[in-house]
Formats: sequence, C-alpha cells, structure tokens
Amino acid sequence: MYSHASIVVALGALAAAAPQLPTLSAATAPIAPVRSSQVTGATSHGPYSGTPTVTGALTKPTLMATIPHLPAPAPSYTNANGLLQAPNQPVAYQPAGGIKTNGTEPYYHPLSDFDYESFTLALYQEWIELDLFHHGLARFSAAEFEAAGLNAEHRYLIEFMANQEVGHSTLLSNILGAAAPPQCTYNYPFTTVREFIDFCQRLTRFGESGVYGFLGHLDSQDAATLLLQSITTEARQQMIFRQFQGLFPMPVWFEVGIPQSWAWTLLAPYISSCPANTTRLAWQNFPTLAILDNPNTNAINPQINANASYNALNGSDPSPSTVLGNNYCVNATGATEDCDASISQNRTYPLSYPGRPIYLRWGNAGQPIGPNNSYITARSPVADAPRYAMFVNQLNATYVPLQNISGNTAVAIQPNTSTFAGDPTINGTSFIAITSSNIYVTPYNLSMINPFVYAGPALYSSG
Ligand SMILES: *[C@@H]1O[C@H](CO)[C@@H](O)[C@H](O)[C@H]1NC(C)=O
Ligand SMILES: *[C@@H]1O[C@H](CO)[C@@H](O)[C@H](O)[C@H]1NC(C)=O
Ligand SMILES: *[C@@H]1O[C@H](CO)[C@@H](O)[C@H](O)[C@H]1NC(C)=O
Ligand SMILES: *[C@@H]1O[C@H](CO)[C@@H](O)[C@H](O)[C@H]1NC(C)=O
Ligand SMILES: *[C@@H]1O[C@H](CO)[C@@H](O)[C@H](O)[C@H]1NC(C)=O
Ligand SMILES: *[C@@H]1O[C@H](CO)[C@@H](O)[C@H](O)[C@H]1NC(C)=O
Ligand SMILES: *[C@@H]1O[C@H](CO)[C@@H](O)[C@H](O)[C@H]1NC(C)=O
Ligand SMILES: *[C@@H]1O[C@H](CO)[C@@H](O)[C@H](O)[C@H]1NC(C)=O
Ligand SMILES: *[C@@H]1O[C@H](CO)[C@@H](O)[C@H](O)[C@H]1NC(C)=O
Ligand SMILES: *[C@@H]1O[C@H](CO)[C@@H](O)[C@H](O)[C@H]1NC(C)=O
Ligand SMILES: *[C@@H]1O[C@H](CO)[C@@H](O)[C@H](O)[C@H]1NC(C)=O
Ligand SMILES: *[C@@H]1O[C@H](CO)[C@@H](O)[C@H](O)[C@H]1NC(C)=O
Repeated sequence: MYSHASIVVALGALAAAAPQLPTLSAATAPIAPVRSSQVTGATSHGPYSGTPTVTGALTKPTLMATIPHLPAPAPSYTNANGLLQAPNQPVAYQPAGGIKTNGTEPYYHPLSDFDYESFTLALYQEWIELDLFHHGLARFSAAEFEAAGLNAEHRYLIEFMANQEVGHSTLLSNILGAAAPPQCTYNYPFTTVREFIDFCQRLTRFGESGVYGFLGHLDSQDAATLLLQSITTEARQQMIFRQFQGLFPMPVWFEVGIPQSWAWTLLAPYISSCPANTTRLAWQNFPTLAILDNPNTNAINPQINANASYNALNGSDPSPSTVLGNNYCVNATGATEDCDASISQNRTYPLSYPGRPIYLRWGNAGQPIGPNNSYITARSPVADAPRYAMFVNQLNATYVPLQNISGNTAVAIQPNTSTFAGDPTINGTSFIAITSSNIYVTPYNLSMINPFVYAGPALYSSG
C-alpha cells in the first residue's frame, strides 16, 4: 500500500521532467484473477502420436437428418412512419422494447447446450491464440522478424495481442464455469515469420467469423454481449495481421459469419493434444478440403506458379514464403509490389479474380483429427455426393457447380458476385466448402447447409 504522501512525492519527481500533472489519487477497485498467466500453459509443439482414450464428438440421440424450413411468423412490429408505435415508454428517453431492458438482472452464463458448446468452442479458439502469439514471438529471432519487415514496435503489438487472449480466455472460462476446457498443446503449420503471420491472419479470420455465426442465435444474449466485446478486439487483430502482411487491410463491406462446425473443422487439425478429461465438443469435423492453387500471399504475382504443389493448402494452412525466388514480395521495389508491413497497400497483381479456376481436393470421412486424434471426420447421409463449391463471404453464399470431378478432386470457377453494386463479394480471406445441395441460405440460417457439407471449408486467399 502506498501512502498518499508517497504518491505525491513520486508524481512530484515525474513533474520535474514532464509538464505539470494533477496529483489527485485515483479510486481503485479489486483486481480479478486471470485463468492463465503469461508463462504457464503448454509449450510443446508437434503432432500427437498416441492412442486416444475416447473418440468422437459429444452426442445425444438425434431427431432428424435435416432441419425443415419453417415460414417466418408474421412480424410483431412494423414501422412505416418513423414514429414511436407503442402507447407508452418505460422511462423518459427510452423507447419501449428490447430484451431484458426492464430491470431484469443479467445472467452471464449459457442457457442451453447450444450456448455451452458455442462458448466452449470459442474458448478452444482463445487458448490457441494465446499460445500461438507467444510461440511466434519466442520461436523467431528479432533478426528474422526484421527480415520479414516487422520491427520491435510491431512485435510489441503481437505481444499485446497475446495479453488480450489472457483476458478473453479468462472471461470465457468464467462464463462457462467448472468444466471450462484448459489450454491444450498445438501443432503449427509454419516455419518462417511470414508464414506465422499468415497463419495468425487466417486463424483469427475463422475465429472471428465462427463467433459472428452464432452470436445472434445464443439463448443468453447477456453472455453474448460479453463475447461480442472480446470478438471485436479479435477482429482488430485479424486486420492488423493483414497489415503486417502488406495486404489490403479490409477489402470487404461486411465481415462474414460461419457455423460452429466450420470453425471447429478449421481449428481442430492444429490442436495436438489436450489434458486428460478436457471437456469435449459436440460440433462436426467435416472432411478436410485443400485448395490446390491457393493464391500465395507472399508472392508479387500470385498467378505465377499458382498451381505449384507448394500452394496446395489444407484448411487454414498458410502460404509458404521460402519457395518464391524473385517473386517474393518482401522488399520488392515497386510501390504496389512490396508487401512489407503497411497501414494500407494496393496490389499490382490481384490475389484472385472472377473466372479463376480453383482446383480442389478433399479428404475422406472417418479420418482421425484434432486433439489426441480423438475426433473423427464425418459427413451426414444427405451429403451424398460432391456437387457444388459453396463460396461464403460477407453477406452471401454462392454455389458454383463442380466441374471435372475425378476421385477426390474437382475444379470450380470463382464466381462474379457482389453484395451491393460496387462491392465484389469474394475478397479477403474467404471460405469455400464442397456441398451436395445448393439450398438457399442467408446469414442467419447459414447453418442449415451443414447436413449437406461434403468437405471443408478451406480458406481462400482472394481479392
Ligand atoms: C490426450 O493426450 C494427453 C497427453 O498424452 C493425455 O493426458 C490425455 O488423456 C489424452 N486425451 C485423450 C482424450 O486421449
Ligand atoms: C422482463 O423482460 C424479460 C426479457 O425481455 C422478460 O422475459 C420478463 O418477463 C420481463 N419481466 C417482467 C416483470 O415484465
Ligand atoms: C528487407 O530489407 C531489410 C532492410 O534493408 C533487410 O533487413 C531484410 O533482410 C530484407 N529482407 C529480405 C527478405 O530481403
Ligand atoms: C478424469 O476423470 C476421471 C473420472 O471422473 C477421474 O477418475 C480421473 O482422476 C480424472 N483424471 C484427471 C487427470 O483429472
Ligand atoms: C492445375 O493442377 C490441377 C491438378 O492439381 C490440374 O488438373 C490442372 O490441369 C492444372 N492447371 C494448370 C493450368 O496447370
Ligand atoms: C490504389 O488503387 C486504387 C483503386 O484501383 C486507385 O484508384 C489508386 O490510384 C491506387 N493508388 C496507388 C497509390 O496506387
Ligand atoms: C462481373 O460482373 C460485372 C457486373 O455484371 C461486370 O461488369 C464485370 O465485367 C464482370 N466481371 C467478370 C470478370 O466477368
Ligand atoms: C491435407 O489433408 C489430406 C486429407 O486429409 C491429408 O492426407 C494430407 O496429409 C494433408 N496435408 C497436409 C500438408 O497436412
Ligand atoms: C475439364 O476437363 C476438360 C477436358 O480435359 C478441359 O478441357 C476443361 O478445361 C476442364 N475444365 C476446367 C474448368 O478446368
Ligand atoms: C448478397 O447479399 C445481399 C444482402 O442479403 C443481397 O442483397 C444480395 O442480393 C446478395 N448478392 C447476391 C449476388 O446474391
Ligand atoms: C434461409 O432464409 C431465407 C430467407 O432469408 C429463406 O428464403 C430460405 O429458404 C432459408 N433457407 C432454409 C434452408 O431454410
Ligand atoms: C479486392 O479489394 C481490393 C481493395 O479494395 C481491390 O483493389 C480489388 O480489386 C478487389 N478484388 C476483387 C476481385 O474484387
């Protein structure tokens, strides 16, 4: 405990060097503990080579194969004149309506299995981010960061992002309660700084989108509010990693949401093992999808050698950085050809374009995946054949028929679609899945596609 006098003395010493600062003492409040400190948690990184003690997602008896469409009920509110429609309002300046605006005490915990499983998935995601950001900083030297265009101030920002994950994982653990999963050990797909940054950019993309997909569906809108306040910082992380890569920071008008099973499919391959008795998940692991000519984010011109085997990326794997020769964009001399860290950057050569052929290869159902290889890739009975590439980005899901299907491979042509005039839908790090059906879905019922997903998603570097 400092006495008031010693604070005044300390500030007095500061004031000698700096402009005069006020010397009133601030109010202080209790400091809440964190679930994980900076240095604890897993440090081993590599694949798992054991036999799992349990396998498969959590399940209960299922009621049906697909969820039937229900018509929307007649809206209980319409407003065509812009005036207050209710006969009165609860207090001055507060219009009638809203959820729990009537004084009901908030309850910041799951209210259903849907809520619990969604928050548990989000916590699995926060734990890997905490480990990943620390690991990248520890694994690569300052010189390696500098050679990739990232200086000490950039590295401090990554460190700060890791600290944010301490807060996020604590918040989610507190929301979940006693059985909240702990941190696991991870198996990362990068060997260079550029690949690390690209992997972070992709991982935060599906982390952010995975939460947007379920936030509005949660039974506990109270807890959803807290999660929203953490996922907005994750959204900033995603954009900052793009800036670190010298990519255009936000080439879209809307950020996309995806279903939980899509996020889990992308996340699980990078979790090596979890401690005994870690709470398990109920979401589906779809068969792996690889984009064989994924545009290389480290290339000046990503169309050169786009089809080379090193650009065949499973799921959320990063673009390789050491194979490009003089097509490597770090320190390239043209103002729009280099990809050093930058607030904003035009590209001379686009990552992708409408009409681009996208070569796809999918894995099989029944493959072990995820922590301890204890989950099994699966497709539902109605995912009976690969028929469409489904492009999901911004507000839109667009189906393109697969062509030249041969074994586990096919080709799809990047579509030419827009959200609204002037905004091409497919830009930034977007999602592609293989489906058996092209049912019409919109952002709030996107998960209706899940029974028809044949493989994927995979992340497509577009724009
Ligand atoms: C996963 O591996 C860890 C480390 O070997 C072990 O402690 C844990 O019990 C395993 N969990 C499962 C589900 O096999
Ligand atoms: C207060 O609002 C909540 C949700 O908006 C509702 O469930 C509850 O019935 C309301 N309570 C009263 C006393 O009106
Ligand atoms: C890029 O330029 C910086 C500054 O000159 C240098 O330190 C770094 O090694 C260069 N990186 C590459 C990949 O050429
Ligand atoms: C895992 O749970 C079982 C059953 O509750 C218990 O017997 C065992 O001690 C637990 N193991 C660990 C490592 O916590
Ligand atoms: C790209 O590779 C796929 C298979 O990976 C092959 O079918 C296709 O012909 C190749 N396209 C070009 C333009 O090389
Ligand atoms: C960046 O791209 C935009 C859109 O194509 C263009 O209008 C602008 O002139 C470019 N700026 C630079 C500095 O290249
Ligand atoms: C995409 O569609 C727009 C609007 O119809 C059109 O102007 C543009 O030429 C199309 N681009 C390609 C590559 O087909
Ligand atoms: C990509 O996924 C396929 C199918 O699941 C698998 O056989 C292959 O080993 C994976 N490749 C990499 C580089 O992880
Ligand atoms: C499909 O295969 C045919 C025959 O090999 C070829 O002419 C065509 O270009 C292929 N389609 C695509 C989109 O690659
Ligand atoms: C994309 O979604 C927006 C918003 O729902 C919609 O207005 C637009 O028509 C969609 N674009 C396409 C090509 O379907
Ligand atoms: C999803 O919602 C749209 C309206 O936004 C509706 O037209 C469509 O039929 C729904 N899809 C399914 C599979 O229920
Ligand atoms: C993606 O967005 C960037 C930045 O606005 C733009 O320069 C580029 O043309 C877009 N790409 C496509 C395919 O629309």
